[in-house]
Amino acid sequence: MSQRISIHGQWSSRLMFILAASGSVVGLGNLWKFPYITGENGGGAFVLVYLLCLALVGIPIMMAEVLIGRRGRQSPVFSWQSVAAEAGASSAWKLAGWAGMLAGLIILSYYSVIAGWTLAYLVRMVSGSLMLVTAEGASSIFTQLVLDPERLLAWHTIFMVMTIKVVSRGVTKGLEQAARILMPLLLFMLVVLVAYAWRQGDFAQAYAFMFNSDFSKLTPNALLTALGHAFFTLSVGMGAMMVYGAYLPKGISIAKTSILVGLLDTVVGLLAGLAIFSVVFAHDLPAGDGPGLIFQTLPIAFGQMPGGSFFGTLFFLLLVFAAWTSAIALVEPMVSWWVEKRGIDRIRAAIWTGISAWLLGIVTILSLSSWSFSFSFGGVLKRHGLFDVLDILTSSIILPLGGLAIALFAGWVMSRDAVVEEFEGRAGIGFKLWYFVIRFITPVAVVLVFLRAIGVV
Ligand code: TRP
Repeated sequence: MSQRISIHGQWSSRLMFILAASGSVVGLGNLWKFPYITGENGGGAFVLVYLLCLALVGIPIMMAEVLIGRRGRQSPVFSWQSVAAEAGASSAWKLAGWAGMLAGLIILSYYSVIAGWTLAYLVRMVSGSLMLVTAEGASSIFTQLVLDPERLLAWHTIFMVMTIKVVSRGVTKGLEQAARILMPLLLFMLVVLVAYAWRQGDFAQAYAFMFNSDFSKLTPNALLTALGHAFFTLSVGMGAMMVYGAYLPKGISIAKTSILVGLLDTVVGLLAGLAIFSVVFAHDLPAGDGPGLIFQTLPIAFGQMPGGSFFGTLFFLLLVFAAWTSAIALVEPMVSWWVEKRGIDRIRAAIWTGISAWLLGIVTILSLSSWSFSFSFGGVLKRHGLFDVLDILTSSIILPLGGLAIALFAGWVMSRDAVVEEFEGRAGIGFKLWYFVIRFITPVAVVLVFLRAIGVV
């Protein structure tokens, strides 16, 4: 087996791993994407399917991914390679590591653009320019931003620099430090916002929208969206959790920490959804307006509420923090790979990764204004052009396939003994349950949802 600890360093405690992993999972996925896709897919039934996907697919895969990382102790590509070698399996498994790095680069590129929107809105909230904004006003402010490539490029650049700065400082001084400061603040702000939405918003209607299931609204495409989002929100399927696992000291329980991180992510997503829809419904605004939901719809509501400017600022600050800690994790698989492969220092590797994602991000920026087109996927018309293509390619295709590879590898390719060893040698009832799920339930669920989405079953 490879070295006992990774050359990049390791987490200084169990709590630091939990904070860093939570920083990775809690992101724009929870606060921006989950509410808008829930809105687009009609609420209730979609949420239920999504929760099932988290429990039966997402969280079990998270455990498997962290496990492969800790056993390999290297960047995802090399961890795949060495753990496959240990299992006597083909080195082709490392292709999953490559696909994951590609997905990471693509996600990071558009993630940084959206994070740029949140920075822009933070400034607007602080300056009070969104107070008492009308529906037309809010929509024209949003459109003006999205259709202005220069402004988007400036924010995209600022966010990428913030991210690369942290990553270049290393595991302890960069990744841990950011998580230690930003995560407690983030959770505190979320609680404050939920309390505010509870008092000032229409909580009952938000609750009904999210939890009253109407299965007639559930299309095959919504199934795939729910599955894809379970991967996206848990940051699994592309190696980010694998590299965080590579920095996990021996003796810390992968099962307990993964379940904790998965639950935290779920709770944050649900709370954010409840808070956002409470505010939106209190002003009779639409839930299904797509990616503009928190940028276009929410400011109208905040603009009319007591203390709206303060709480609006808090909300966008929360988004910036969440996006920042996730972007850091998106960069790490590539940076660790570059350092191992080329022997270059971390700062240089971080800068090169940043430049690559930054360049690709320009494609998203341009597609928002000049190359907008419509296309259909699984019978659903998409309106946002290239941005949707990148999102579907990663969330709905590469992440689920990467997750499938992880489940099959941990369930069928690695020896049971090696897997048990990473469970601290304890093959109790919890282990047996997980092992059954990862071998049978998870792969079948992923394959079925896929076949259903492309119309085969
Ligand atoms: N989980 C992140 C979010 O919810 C997005 C994400 C997907 C991610 N894959 C990742 C973050 C890998 C870090 C690493 O916003």
